[in-house]
Amino acid sequence: MSPFSHRGARRGGRLAADWAPDSWRRRPAAQQPVYDDPAVLAAAVAELTALPPLVTSWEIELLKGQLAEAAAGERFLLQGGDCAESFGDCNSAAIAAKLKILLQMSLVLVHGSKRRVIRVGRFAGQYAKPRTHPTEERDGQVLPAYRGDIVNRRGFSEAERRADPQLLLRGYERAALTLNFVRALIDGGFADLHHPEYWDLEFVRHSPHAEEYQRMVEAIADSLRFMETLAGQQIGELGRVDFFTSHEGLHLLWEQAQTRQVPHREGWYDLTTHFPWIGMRTSDPGSAHVEFFRGVSNPVAVKLGPGMTPEWLGELAERLDPEREPGRLTLIHRFGMDEIARRLPPLLEEMHRRQRRPLWCCDPMHGNTETTPSGVRTRRFERILGELEQAFELHEQLGSRLGGVHFELTGEDVTECVGGARGLSDADLGRSYRSQVDPRLNYEQALEMALLIARRMARRGP
Ligand code: PEP
Ligand code: CO
Repeated sequence: MSPFSHRGARRGGRLAADWAPDSWRRRPAAQQPVYDDPAVLAAAVAELTALPPLVTSWEIELLKGQLAEAAAGERFLLQGGDCAESFGDCNSAAIAAKLKILLQMSLVLVHGSKRRVIRVGRFAGQYAKPRTHPTEERDGQVLPAYRGDIVNRRGFSEAERRADPQLLLRGYERAALTLNFVRALIDGGFADLHHPEYWDLEFVRHSPHAEEYQRMVEAIADSLRFMETLAGQQIGELGRVDFFTSHEGLHLLWEQAQTRQVPHREGWYDLTTHFPWIGMRTSDPGSAHVEFFRGVSNPVAVKLGPGMTPEWLGELAERLDPEREPGRLTLIHRFGMDEIARRLPPLLEEMHRRQRRPLWCCDPMHGNTETTPSGVRTRRFERILGELEQAFELHEQLGSRLGGVHFELTGEDVTECVGGARGLSDADLGRSYRSQVDPRLNYEQALEMALLIARRMARRGP
């Protein structure tokens, strides 16, 4: 039987009879690539459908449970990684650097928030990008926009910008290779809290915050040893660090191909990732994307941009989480520093009125993108921090709680965002600007951001 012919989805103990992995096809699907050969596309999708899943349903359920605890204030979510992963960066150094920065940030956040931190990478599948303009023009030549490595290529020629179905398979392989390495590093003790000194990166030593970071690392190792002395044994559970994957659930054929039923559980799981999110450009309640994610059992997140209204959000919550299942729904707001104070409160009030307690997360990156006078896309450290500080404040004032943060960052020494302790200026952007899409915090900026948030959380309480 074709995996697409099962009907019905279990969510929160109920089967939605009117849902199937392909029921999204009856809705308007924005941001989907146009392929010129349907037969070649169908063959690639069929191959993907037959391949083993990238993640498992029990990992997904574990994460959902942890997200439910974060919504209840017992954990804190750290989600971060590239704006768009690139196939070319699927190498050991880049993957290890991404893990390290997320681990180090999480350590700092554990210290500040006194809560356990859920680590979620924007990786092992963050390959499809929504674009504001479907085409790009250079020197009078107009070509389809680059839509992520899983769709087309970055170079500016007709051949490179053609949507190529083979890239779906290359993306699956890159995601699997990335996951394999992440799992091996973690199983091998790379992320063991007993040895945080292994997480050192060469240039943390030159950071103005190196000392503060070292002190935290030592304090954490000390308290772990102290607890183990009390317990008289190694506390495996405490020393172990989990890692989860996430990506924007944008390319619906790719998501559908790995959406399956699994033995001993009812319902459908999107097994491309633990934690997909619906982007701002595809979050219309009547959209194909909302239709698709309504039926899968994964925890899902939705990005909320400046256009989001309380009615729209209410509709989204009812569609995506009719059963109010703990951990199911995360709302990631990304308004920008100048808009958050005006945009967020009505949405918090709406969820309060509906007696809903989703997990709230702030993405301070996407509302704060700007272009320098010389035409380079960047983000300013102070504005990113400014939005985050307001987010903590606004949630507190309205009896809500900010339960997580979402960053575009890299473990490498790029120069894409300006500001931070080193005072990177517009002039520095040319030095090492590598992103093809959005500008990322570099290693030092990301760690500094975590230190500043942690200080605030330590000062004000969770
Ligand atoms: C992103 O997270 O890279 C993205 C495109 O975000 P948004 O949908 O919030 O614009
Ligand atoms: Co982005």
